[in-house]
Amino acid sequence: MKDALDIRFDFSLVLEKNLRSGEGLAAPRLRAALRRAEKAALAVARRHAAGEIGFPDLPFRETEARRISRDAARMRKRFTHMLVLGIGGSALGTKAVLEALGGEGARKGLAVTVADNVDPDVFFPVLRSLPMKKTVVVAVSKSGGTAETNSQLSMAIDALKKANGGAWKDRLILVTDPEKGIFRRMAREEGIAAYPVPANVGGRFSVLSPVGLLPLAAAGVSVGRLLSGARRMEALFRGRKPEENPVLFAAAVYAHYMMADPKPVHVWMTYGEGLERVAEWWQQLWGESLGKKRKDGTSVGQAPARAVGVTDQHSQVQLYQDGPADKVYTFVKWKEGKERGNVPRAAFAPDMSMLGGRPLRDLFEAEFEGTIGALWSAGRPIVRVEIGARDEEHIGAFLHFWEWVTAVVGECAGIDPFDQPGVEEGKKITRALMGEKGSSSRREEFLRKMRARTPAVIRVRKGG
Ligand code: PA5
Repeated sequence: MKDALDIRFDFSLVLEKNLRSGEGLAAPRLRAALRRAEKAALAVARRHAAGEIGFPDLPFRETEARRISRDAARMRKRFTHMLVLGIGGSALGTKAVLEALGGEGARKGLAVTVADNVDPDVFFPVLRSLPMKKTVVVAVSKSGGTAETNSQLSMAIDALKKANGGAWKDRLILVTDPEKGIFRRMAREEGIAAYPVPANVGGRFSVLSPVGLLPLAAAGVSVGRLLSGARRMEALFRGRKPEENPVLFAAAVYAHYMMADPKPVHVWMTYGEGLERVAEWWQQLWGESLGKKRKDGTSVGQAPARAVGVTDQHSQVQLYQDGPADKVYTFVKWKEGKERGNVPRAAFAPDMSMLGGRPLRDLFEAEFEGTIGALWSAGRPIVRVEIGARDEEHIGAFLHFWEWVTAVVGECAGIDPFDQPGVEEGKKITRALMGEKGSSSRREEFLRKMRARTPAVIRVRKGG
């Protein structure tokens, strides 16, 4: 399947005709799966029309994107660095797009650092390394109630104050819920600039909102083109019949491998610089959206795993080939790369002479094809995606594609892909353990359970 965008989705290796291991979809099953996906997409569209979910609107918020681009241009004149604080959906999209577009130094913009871990051995060195007189801090939290981001924010404010005295406030920007939460209150009370995350857009679906757009624009990414790519995907999705619709086809296939022929693991194998971070973004989207309990108490979900080609061919592919048939595979690759260098002709032993004098890329491509071929011979179901260009339009379209696929698969599975009760529970326990006011009974209950557990601890000490 091809379009002006040039993203090629190849579902051949999930068809029963091509996959004689019994793992493939026969034509009637595929037709039924496509019908289910179509119905599920309509159900998601109804929730969208009712205002419950907002990610499909994000590509159309062009006025906001233009304003963000103008603000970012002003920031580029005033600062050299941007420190982004946030975690999960408030960080992974920004990291993914930056890396997909070539990482630091690929464009003229602020040097953007995304701090998404409170490991002190990571965070403090990052904070110390930044020139706080020339750094703008962007703290991103939809809820405002995430302990990690709140602690980072306090430390960053401290560093801003030390470097800039009273003038710290206009070096800080908050990105948060339009009405609620600690961050919004802080913005109002302290007069700190704040961008809204639409109330009906959750963290992992928010990369095309100010959550991602602000830092990306500051880094010099064309956020207008990111959105126009996503709009193209939206139009494709809305305009094509299921058999030619990449979103519905993919959703049908993945829903099949999640429910009808359950594969508990979904492996993304990426071929191309920068795609690993995109895989990380996808892991959150897939894992957190689809790993849920249904109303009847049964569980669904797929563990999202990532592997980097060709490196992990030599660490994971043995398992994929001969291990349990419990995985569905998605291979993701840039259609082309930039480097054109050859392997020298002379440097090879006679047995490896086929490598000499040829582009290194030929080997990379052969590894991609060969790995797919090997897994195919082992009867593994494989979806293959090739992204035509490493630019904003293609990345925007690709991310939006996965948001839709995830939403439709979630609906097929009978769960709500837009909530995250498990994550919220973890956040509450963390805050309680840190001594949050009003959470003492939760803390006591948790500690009581921990103390009552049957211990099985082995400690190894020097000399022991
Ligand atoms: O997808 C989600 O909702 C979560 O992973 C959040 O993005 C993450 O927990 C951070 O939450 P917040 O943006 O509220 O700080």
